[in-house]
Amino acid sequence: MNDIPPRPNNLEAFWMPFTANRGYKAAPRMLARAEGMHYYTNDNREIIDGTAGLWCVNAGHGRREITEAIQRQAATMDFAPTFQLGHPIAFQAAAKIAEHTPAGLDRIFFTNSGSESADTALKIALAYQRARGQSQRVRLVGRERGYHGVGFGGISVGGIGPNRKQFGAMLPYVDHLPHTHAPQHTAFSRGEPQWGAHLADHLDALVALHGDTIAAVIVEPLAGSTGVLVPPAGYLARLRELCDKHGILLIFDEVITGFGRLGTFFGSERVGVTPDILTMAKGLTNAAVPMGAVAVHDTIYRTIVDGAPAGIELFHGYTYSGHPLAAAAAVAAVDLHVAEDLPGRARAIEPYFTDAAHSLRGLPNVIDIRNLGLVTGIELQGREGKPTDRAVRIFHRCFDNGLLIRTTGDIIALSPPLIVERAHIDRIFGTLADAIRAEAA
Ligand SMILES: Cc1ncc(COP(=O)(O)O)c(C=O)c1O
Repeated sequence: MNDIPPRPNNLEAFWMPFTANRGYKAAPRMLARAEGMHYYTNDNREIIDGTAGLWCVNAGHGRREITEAIQRQAATMDFAPTFQLGHPIAFQAAAKIAEHTPAGLDRIFFTNSGSESADTALKIALAYQRARGQSQRVRLVGRERGYHGVGFGGISVGGIGPNRKQFGAMLPYVDHLPHTHAPQHTAFSRGEPQWGAHLADHLDALVALHGDTIAAVIVEPLAGSTGVLVPPAGYLARLRELCDKHGILLIFDEVITGFGRLGTFFGSERVGVTPDILTMAKGLTNAAVPMGAVAVHDTIYRTIVDGAPAGIELFHGYTYSGHPLAAAAAVAAVDLHVAEDLPGRARAIEPYFTDAAHSLRGLPNVIDIRNLGLVTGIELQGREGKPTDRAVRIFHRCFDNGLLIRTTGDIIALSPPLIVERAHIDRIFGTLADAIRAEAA
C-alpha cells in the first residue's frame, strides 16, 4: 500500500471548482489514494467509485501501464512545443486514437480538457464553413440542458442555467434545440426511450428562423452532466438527416460517452450515428494526465488546410496541445482499452448493471430511472422548496457508507469504471438503496 498523504492544514487557499466551498471546508471529505475500483480516504476508509471519478477513470484507478508510460516519457522528454515542431509520441497518440474514431473522422486536434475540446470543435466548424465559401454560417446551435464545459463557447451553446447566469452575455448568434428530458413520457425506460425522436425536428424551425446562417449543431449523444438524458430512439438519426439536408455540421460531444462508456469505443457507434466532428477528453488518458482531443472528418481538415494559402491554416492551439506526458498516457490508455476490451466488458455487464439500477424502482421518492451503457440516472422527487437537498443528503450518506455517487439537481448519476464486476454493482446499488430509504425515514 502506498503512503497516505497527510491531511492539509490550510484548506482556504484552494478555491474549489463547482463546489460549495464554505460547506465543504466546514466538513471536508478528502480522497487520499486510489486503486482499481476504489478510493481511500485520509483515514483509510475504502470508498467504491460509482462514478469513475468524474466519468473519466474508465479503466479503473492506478493502472500500472499508464503510470509507467508517463514516468518513461517524463524521463525522456518532459515538454516540447507542437507549434511548428513535433515530437513522436503526439503523432503516435493521434494515429492510435484515429484507429478507433468513426470512419472518416481521422484528423485529431489535441486540447487539454473537455471544455477546450468543445470550443475547438465550434471554432473548427466556423472555420470550415468559411473555408468552403459559406461565411454567412456563423450561428451555433446547442441544446437546452446541454453541457459542453465552461469556456465561453461551451457555456453559450450549453443549456444549464446556473452555469451561464453569472457570466454576462455569452457568444452572439447562438440558439438551442429543446432538451429531451420528459419523464412524463419516458419514465423507467430501459435504454433509448421510444418517445421523443420528433424533438429533433425543431432544427427545421431554427432553419426557418435563421436561414442558411447555421454553421453547426452540437449535442452530447447521451447528456451526462445535466442528469443522464438518454437519446430517444431515432432522435440522433433524425438530427443527422436534418443537418445534412441543411448544410449544417453535426458535432457530438463525446467527452463522457467516449472510451467505452456506452459499450462501444465511441458512443456514436452505439447510437448508430456518425457526426462530422467528435470531441473527447476524460477517458482518453484514463484521467491520469489532462488531455482532450477533437476528431475531425477528413473533408473538413482538407477544406481548411488544403484550401488555405501557404502558412498557418488554423489560428488555434494550446501550449500543451499534444503534451508528451498526456500523449504517452493516451497511447497507454487506448492500448489498455484494446488489450482488455473494455468496451466489450462494459457491454457484457450492462444487462446486470441495468437490472440493478431498475431494482431501485419503488423506493421512496424515486420518480425515474434511465440508463444506457454503464450510465444510469436515478431521478428523485425534490424536497418541497429545497431543490437538490435530498440528493445532496443521499450523496453524504453514501460517502459515509463507502460509496461515491454523483448528483446533479435531484438526479443521481452512476458511471462506474468499466472494470466493474457484479459484486461491485451489488455493493453500489445496495448502499445507494439503503441511503435512499434512510433519507425517507
Ligand atoms: C459532454 C461534456 N463536455 C465537456 C465537458 C467538460 O470537460 P472538462 O471539465 O474536462 O473541461 C464535460 C465534463 O463533464 C462533459 O461532460
